[in-house]
Amino acid sequence: MNNEKATKGAIGVFDSGYGGLTILREIRRAMPQYDYMYLGDNARAPYGTRSFDIVYQFTLEAVQYLFKQGCQLVILACNTASAKALRSIQQRDLPLIDPTRRVLGVIRPTVEKIGEISCNGHVGIFGTPGTVQSQSYDIEITKLFPDFKVYSQSCPMWVPLVENCEYDKPGADYFVQQEVDRLFGQEPSIDAVILGCTHYPLLFDKIRQYVPQSARVVTQGEIVAESLCDYLRRHPDMDERCTKGGSCQYLTTENATRFSEMASIFMQEPATATRIIL
Ligand code: DGL
Repeated sequence: MNNEKATKGAIGVFDSGYGGLTILREIRRAMPQYDYMYLGDNARAPYGTRSFDIVYQFTLEAVQYLFKQGCQLVILACNTASAKALRSIQQRDLPLIDPTRRVLGVIRPTVEKIGEISCNGHVGIFGTPGTVQSQSYDIEITKLFPDFKVYSQSCPMWVPLVENCEYDKPGADYFVQQEVDRLFGQEPSIDAVILGCTHYPLLFDKIRQYVPQSARVVTQGEIVAESLCDYLRRHPDMDERCTKGGSCQYLTTENATRFSEMASIFMQEPATATRIIL
């Protein structure tokens, strides 16, 4: 199907793999009336250890694929892609591809909320090596809250634990505790920790166990869902272009059976994925 010229379509949700499902779940819970098309580039995950150029290239390919399926609005449900590709796609590619379509990320809405969550302005970030290196959170947080101090910890093992379904196994504890200790070793008084990677909510119970009780652990799903609701309310023209049939389609670049199993667990409903090639 080629809907490049379509003027209406599902809301596209993209991630390198399964992580974006933690965002899709909350978006669908908040706005079940829309159609959604989720694309996980599992064959090329993780993105977090890849270079700037490669993350940009892969993300652009995924966005173009979703546009071809008719999506008018695409959410990058991936911090790494939001950090490394969003700005170039918005500023350089969209005007050439189709200036009326939109691509939105997950970092800005998360940062906007953190002012309400942190009391002492000491904020911790767990992210992929790519997100941490990009300093996107540091830059965005200090823009909005100049007095805040940001402490980041990259967690290269956490995405592979999720992608390989090891996130709830005892072996994961070692890697979780190690990074939590490193973050709080930088600044023990951190009172809010952002899980700045959409895969990390799957490790939430383990992360919560090691993070001091005095700190809040912030996940992005509800924040992004609320921000998207608000966006569609403020942009009735885009809302009009998002079809409302309550459906959800799953696409993956890897094994469809495995993706269907994972998506059914995450979304708590039967999910059937289709394999595609980007
Ligand atoms: N889930 C993604 C993120 O939010 C990327 C994980 C990866 O592929 O490394 O950063």
